[in-house]
Parts: sequence; C-alpha cells; structure tokens
Amino acid sequence: MKISLSRFKATDNETVVLPLFKDNEKFLNNIEKNVFKKIKEANKFNSEYGEIYNYNFLDNDKLKRILFLGLGKEEKITLNKIRKLMSKLLETVKRDKDDNVYLDLIKTEYLNSEELYMAIIEGLMLSDYSFDKYKSKAKTKNEEVNFTLGNIEEYKMEKINEIYYDTLDSVNFNYVARDLVNEPANFMTPEKLASVVKEYSTKYGFEADIFEENKIKDLDMKAFLSVSMGSELKPKLIVMRYFGDKENKDDILGLVGKGLTYDSGGYSIKTSEGMKTMKSDMGGAAAVIGAMSAISKRKLKINVISVVASCENMISGKAYRPGDIIGSMSGKTIEVLNTDAEGRLTLADAVYYAVNNEKVTKIVDVATLTGAATITLGTVATAALTNDDKLFSSLNKAGKLTGEKVWQLPIYDEYKEEFKSKIADLKNVGSRAAGTITAGLFIKEFIENSVPWIHLDIASTSWSDSKKDYYSVGGTGVGVRLLYNFAKNLIKK
Ligand code: BES
Ligand code: ZN
Ligand code: ZN
Repeated sequence: MKISLSRFKATDNETVVLPLFKDNEKFLNNIEKNVFKKIKEANKFNSEYGEIYNYNFLDNDKLKRILFLGLGKEEKITLNKIRKLMSKLLETVKRDKDDNVYLDLIKTEYLNSEELYMAIIEGLMLSDYSFDKYKSKAKTKNEEVNFTLGNIEEYKMEKINEIYYDTLDSVNFNYVARDLVNEPANFMTPEKLASVVKEYSTKYGFEADIFEENKIKDLDMKAFLSVSMGSELKPKLIVMRYFGDKENKDDILGLVGKGLTYDSGGYSIKTSEGMKTMKSDMGGAAAVIGAMSAISKRKLKINVISVVASCENMISGKAYRPGDIIGSMSGKTIEVLNTDAEGRLTLADAVYYAVNNEKVTKIVDVATLTGAATITLGTVATAALTNDDKLFSSLNKAGKLTGEKVWQLPIYDEYKEEFKSKIADLKNVGSRAAGTITAGLFIKEFIENSVPWIHLDIASTSWSDSKKDYYSVGGTGVGVRLLYNFAKNLIKK
C-alpha cells in the first residue's frame, strides 16, 4: 500500500471515500449531497459508526464509485475508532480491488487534527501488514492500493508531512517487531536476534553490544544462565545504547525486554496447546528493539539504554530443575519451584544489570510474563505495575495516544508473601493468586526502589490468535509505538 498526501480534490480514476459524521453532511458537494439524500431516504446509510455504503454510477461512460463511510456521532469519535475504521475501509477496498482510493478530509473539533492524521495513517498501515515470508506464492498485484489523503489545504502541509513521517516510522518499526515475533524459533534464535540488533544499530544509529556466554558468566548472571542451560543454543545478552541528549548524559531511560526465543516450560513442561505460540516469548524484546530503532532513527533528544537477556527455555540433561536453588547477579538466591516461571529469572538479572552496570535512572521492563494477564485483562489491555505514578502517567498518556491500552495493578506489600521461600531468599512462584502482580513484584525485588520503575506484562496483548481490528493473526508489535511516544513525552523541553 502507498499513502500520499494531497491538497487537491479527487481525480477521475479514484474511488472517493466520503467520511461522514451522523447528522453532519456539510462538507459534501452538490452531486454527493444528492446521492447522500437518496441513500439516506432509502435507509441504506445512516452515518452510523462503521457503516460503509458503496455507490457505483456511470459518469460520461466512466464507472465511478463513492464509498460513504459512517463515523457515527461526532462527539463520540476517538483516535482508536478512526484506526479501526481505516482497517475496515482497507479491507473493503482490497476486497473490491480498488487500486486508487481518495479519502476526503475528516474535519472535527473533537480531535486534534495532527493526531487525527496520525490515526488515519496508522490504521491503514497497521492493518496492511502480513507475514508472508514463508508462503511460496507471492502476494497478488491487485492487493496494492494507492491511498490519497486529500483536500488538506486548510492545514499546513509541512506539519502534516512531519507527523506523517513520524507515524510511518513508528508503524514501520511496529512491522519490524511483528516480523521478529512471527519468525519461528528455529530461525529467530538468540544469536539471530542479536545479529538483527547489530544490523539495526548501524542502520538506525545506536550502539549495540552483544555479550557472549563467558561474559555473562563474568557478570555473574546466574539466574539468566540457569534458564538457558537446557538449550543447545547459547544465551546472548544484548545491550543497545543511544545518547540523543548529551547535555544530560546521566539521565538515562532503561528499557528491558524479555527475550525468550522459545519457552517449552522446561521440566515444568507446558501442554502442546500452551507451547504452540511460545516462539512469541520474545515479544518484549521485539517491542524494545523496535522502539529503540524508532527513537534513534528519529533522533529523539533523550538517552536510552535497552537490555535483552535472550535465551531458550528447553529440556535436556543440562537443564535446570524444579527444586534447584540458583543465584543471581544481585546476590539473592532463588528457589526454582517452576521452571516455566523463567521470564522473571532472566529479567531479574537484566534489570539488575541495567540499573547497576548501565546506570539507567528510570526503567521500564516489557515481558510476555504471565498467562494470568489474560485472565485479568483479556487481550484488551496490557497489565502494568509501577513504583512511580508520575512516570506511569507519561506512559499512560502515550498509550491513550497510540491506542495501546495499559491498566495499572496494585503493588501492595502483602503480595510479596507469595514469593517468600523457606530455604532461599526468594522462590520463583507462589500460589496461583494474583499471578501477574506477584511476577512483576518478583522483578521489582531486583530493583528495590533505587529508580522509578514500570513493569508491562504483554502476555495477552503481544499475540493475536485471530484478526482483530488493525492486527492480523500473530505478533501485534504492541509496545513499539507506546515506548516510542513514552520516550517522546520524557524529552526535556
Ligand atoms: N511465557 C509464559 C507466559 C505466557 C503465557 C505468555 C501465555 C504468553 C502466553 C511464561 O514464561 C510462563 O510460562 N508463565 C507461567 C508462570 C507460572 C508458572 C507461575 C504461567 O503464566 O503459566
Ligand atoms: Zn514460561
Ligand atoms: Zn516465558
């Protein structure tokens, strides 16, 4: 799909899309007004949200097409409703093999016009994504659509252009993250993930450091290493650094992503059903890598250091066992009662490393951490824990903008009872109660309150089992646009 911006009216070979709020037809020309009146009288189209009415007619022997697009009540419009509608529109024009589509201006005082354009572009682009690499038959040509966002003379073209590229950047990196997640584990190994990061670092302008197993041992990352032991594949600690605000070198945002390229559960083995999507257990890493790439490509005036402790959770004679007591980089000992609660072990070392060795001054960890996140919030929202409400409000604001909903859960001390061990400093699982909270709080044990911290459990939002609005089946790339806009919100004015 190609999107272009235009100041002008539709040309003759374009399918014209007329977006209409309910009871508001004031932007129609005379022909359109007439048609609109007729279809409204015939009760074919009522400008209800999500309604699409297709009107074909002959004009001087030329077949023309108008698509009336219902936006619903003007005061009820939101950015995410726009994104979803664009997804529906793209589906319709692809189905009907329209090559050239002209989308007329949406004008409303209920939305900021720049954000509105962002949502239009995002809705179209995000839903255009598909993962076809392994299909022998290539995509058919007629799925290519040229979209013109027209009639925008009233706005400054330059400003819209800026928004356009900004948005396309973060959407493109959302694609990147979705590719990383959709790639199977026999391809996307820790080594491959590390090499992809190396490639992006030169392409987008950040620094990448890949730590091999011996260096990870030197760092004493015993918890991370324990998880990786069952696999033939070597673990990689991936560190990405970007300094966009040299005047404030000591102020560093840390991003940590869970990077399990496969999670079989280990000896606490998953069911066959549970294992089917576990190539996606590096969705946190994908989000962080995508955000890091977008941040550095757009040269945001901020310092960010990202850390991914990447490995596989497998079974072999070398694998860690339920009942093992392991160490960690922090010095704390952990009784492993479930080898499937591996993410928190890798993250414990990763966040400890980020705070103590890379000196990040605030930290966000992103992880496909608990199945319980689906029980708590379904696939609608990402679960969040934080020790800093102010930092969280910047993230929440970003989520409201990008449509990546985030919901905060409590961090009451009582939950910590769940991971008190009788024979070690901590145990890695408690009862089933409040699984998402206790998993996040386990990670917090390795940060204490040294820095402001946000934990994002994307287990239910990073993967979609079916097509849902602007997400196709598979990786959603959740977190990329969220973290990118969060970083933008943190820029010192
Ligand atoms: N990677 C899983 C969590 C997960 C489950 C992500 C489903 C996406 C979809 C994680 O490592 C895990 O297995 N967690 C366990 C924790 C439990 C043993 C305390 C879980 O949620 O069952
Ligand atoms: Zn697991
Ligand atoms: Zn896992």
